[in-house]
Amino acid sequence: MRVMVVGSGGREYAIGRALHQDKNVEKIYFAPGNGGTFELGENVEVADYRDLAKFAKEEGIDLTIVGPEAPLVEGIVDIFKEEGLTIFGPSQKAALLEGSKIYMKNFLKRRGIPTARYIETDTMEEASEFIDELEPPIVVKADGLCAGKGVIIAQSQEEAKEAAARMLSGEAFGPAGQRVVIEEFLDGYELSIFAISDGERYVILPAAQDHKRLLDGDQGPNTGGMGAYAPTPLIDDELYKKIEERIVAPTIEGMREEGTPFEGVLFVGLMIVDGEPYVLEYNVRFGDPECEVLMPLLKTPASELFYKAATKRLDELEIEFWDKYAVGVVLASENYPYGKSKPSEIIVDEIVHQDLAQHAHICYAGVSLIEGKLFATGGRVLVCVGIGDTIKEARDYAYMLTGQVHFAGKKFRSDIAYQALKADAS
Ligand code: AMP
Ligand code: GLY
Repeated sequence: MRVMVVGSGGREYAIGRALHQDKNVEKIYFAPGNGGTFELGENVEVADYRDLAKFAKEEGIDLTIVGPEAPLVEGIVDIFKEEGLTIFGPSQKAALLEGSKIYMKNFLKRRGIPTARYIETDTMEEASEFIDELEPPIVVKADGLCAGKGVIIAQSQEEAKEAAARMLSGEAFGPAGQRVVIEEFLDGYELSIFAISDGERYVILPAAQDHKRLLDGDQGPNTGGMGAYAPTPLIDDELYKKIEERIVAPTIEGMREEGTPFEGVLFVGLMIVDGEPYVLEYNVRFGDPECEVLMPLLKTPASELFYKAATKRLDELEIEFWDKYAVGVVLASENYPYGKSKPSEIIVDEIVHQDLAQHAHICYAGVSLIEGKLFATGGRVLVCVGIGDTIKEARDYAYMLTGQVHFAGKKFRSDIAYQALKADAS
């Protein structure tokens, strides 16, 4: 099978790596890929989706897998399907679950799926009125995609009103903020659940935990994610069952009933309050770096999972996972997440320990190949992934690997999976 992966991050590298190990896959294309994906397949520089669909036809590509949300929200799946191509990901309409907070909240309300109490509005009068009813902290969200920056947790009513005013005027996020959601703050712990659906059926993947803050102990600014691990012990069978019955199943059923079946990866961001799950957000794709720790746990060949999901045949699949843990530590560049850093060459020591070579690997993300040498050119440069029989073992391998990778300005968190290790110890 010939497979194309759309995107350029560590998530796409991880999907490509799983396909690379899959004997059913004969060739992998990345559009556009990064400086590391060269070692797994061919990078394709075609930006326009119609041209890319044409390319897929000409090359006889059997399956395209879309990594990031932007192409999905822009309708890449609809374009490929019009051309009769097989593509894994949600349609433009179904991608609104991530593309519009208002669509998402109204969907949750219609389907009776638990979420924070809210209003949606485009006027300051309504916003102020609802803010006055709430106790701080108060959550203000821009409707559209804002590269992860569109959510403000205000510590006072005044701050919430200011945030709403800045969004509604277009000052904060342009058109993406001219409608807002205002909602009550949920106090609990966060969990991410990933389900792969063919529009009708779904399979749930092991639960993963991301680490959003830049610094150890969950301090510092928010980032795209500084590390992740899976499966997490923060979920037990009872909670898992509640999440499946109250959230995942009604989401898939609701989308199907409303004529916008969800095909692809459904990423549910949850807040667990006193043991009860609430939906904070949906994403319509894998998390990054969550994907980097989920892919190596997949025992089922990746091509089979994605192909069956893209062709409405998930009922034929018995999905299997390795009985292992994976921990991923992001190595970021000097000025991340504030700004760009100077490109610096990446040197990876030869891994002489067989044990480490077998239990750890790199997923490349913000890297470029310049005159045959690998350079760190992005914010999140690469992810060191360790695999083990326990979380501790997986984490030790991941951190051993971080010591083998060198570039100027390299930084990373030293406490990935700390909550799991604490939970294990107690
Ligand atoms: P979202 O993009 O909606 O997931 O929001 C980004 C982050 O803001 C979440 O991961 C939470 O940490 C936080 N957040 C969003 N909504 C709420 C809420 N209603 N209560 C508490 N925290 C929230
Ligand atoms: N790691 C979180 C995300 O991809 O949105």
